[in-house]
Amino acid sequence: MSNKLQPVRGTHDVLPDEFEKFSAIINIARELGALYGFREMATPIFEATEVFSRSMGETSDVVSKEMFTFETRGGESVTLRPEFTAGMARAFISNGMQQHLPLKLFSTGPLFRYERPQKGRQRQFHQVNYEWLGDDSWQADVEIITLAGHLLYYLSGGKGCTLHINTLGDKESREKYRAALVSYLAPFADKLSEDSKRRLNENPLRILDSKDKGDREILINAPVMTDYLSASAKARFNKICSVLQSDGALLFQEIKIDPALVRGLDYYTDTVFEFVANTGELGAQNTVLAGGRYDGLIEQMGGKSTPAIGFAAGVERLLLLMPNKDISIKDLKIGVFPLFEDDMKLAATNYIAALATLLRVRLKSIKDELKTKREFSAEVIWQGKLSKRLERASKSGFTHAIIIGDDEVNSGKFLLKDMASGTQSSIDRDKLLENDNVKKIFGI
Ligand code: HAM
Repeated sequence: MSNKLQPVRGTHDVLPDEFEKFSAIINIARELGALYGFREMATPIFEATEVFSRSMGETSDVVSKEMFTFETRGGESVTLRPEFTAGMARAFISNGMQQHLPLKLFSTGPLFRYERPQKGRQRQFHQVNYEWLGDDSWQADVEIITLAGHLLYYLSGGKGCTLHINTLGDKESREKYRAALVSYLAPFADKLSEDSKRRLNENPLRILDSKDKGDREILINAPVMTDYLSASAKARFNKICSVLQSDGALLFQEIKIDPALVRGLDYYTDTVFEFVANTGELGAQNTVLAGGRYDGLIEQMGGKSTPAIGFAAGVERLLLLMPNKDISIKDLKIGVFPLFEDDMKLAATNYIAALATLLRVRLKSIKDELKTKREFSAEVIWQGKLSKRLERASKSGFTHAIIIGDDEVNSGKFLLKDMASGTQSSIDRDKLLENDNVKKIFGI
């Protein structure tokens, strides 16, 4: 029974301290997306299984080993979403969004993959995800990679990541390369790992990112994608890299052109990219963000041919990437501490409750007036030993403590302590009747 009271392996509870950071990251991602013209939408957490199996590729690790698939009571096979892209493409087709192109769409929420859990890798995790549909220009690739770099730059407090980038080329280039790779690998077929043997016919490009030691040795002399790119695919990629190398210098630590980068999902075409964290915090799971172009996916799923590019970043990994500074924007946290133990008189209770209400009414009104993203809170710590409550005042991140005893109740005042500077002042409660006074008192 006791095991049942633990979260299931690969899942975890997000307690308030972590949640605050977690939601701050999501808000930053959402706001930054809006800055680049992305609008938020949501798709269901589960979809018909084929939405994922057809799009991501039957031989991809995600589809072949990692999906949470189950049968509903009605006998349909459904799958908890392992990513956003396929569901977004499905939604794009089902809702006739074709007529509103181009579209820039942002989504966030939980995803599920049955992977071996470790630091930065969970079975239930979260992403912030961006998809840009209907623009096949190379400039769109540059812009979305810049957005990705901007997000990581902001969250890591500087150039915390290296951009790895590659092109899978257009269809023609990929077919030529695929043929060359298969003819190179065929004589080694017996020596390849089991996964790679299976992929040799089904999806040979995926063998390139095999982690198996034997496979890696065989791959040393394998043909390189770059040599098989058509002139137009090559020119496209060169333009993208050249702009990123100059503009990206603002945002990325480094740009690595990595011909072995193929990504694990089948729908990618042309540009693929990943951002790898330079800090040691993330351990083996140091790819924080990944994406690429998928110009064939929507047509393959039954829609009209629509070019698209996108990326997603794992929120749990972004959390590890962030330096230990507090990015919480909860700037004003007021604690009201009645100096009474237990039996508080009715008059004192009234006084304190009215003061707290007054304060909250003012704070809400100031927040609306200033349209600020800062969070304001005022809470009364009613219960507990006085010494414990005051200890809490200094430990719980309150920016201000309001202290109220008999003297204050009798004189219509309150004692305000600024927690950062330690200064105290006695203030008339009636000052809380006006926004301007409240702004002055709390330095808003
Ligand atoms: P992905 O590479 O499978 O791509 O995942 C993107 C990011 O999600 C990873 O870089 C990582 O930060 C995070 N992530 C993935 N699996 C886990 C896990 N088990 N635990 C924690 N974090 C994880 C995609 O999902 C594509 N749909 C991205 C995309 C969007 N491509 C085009 N548009």
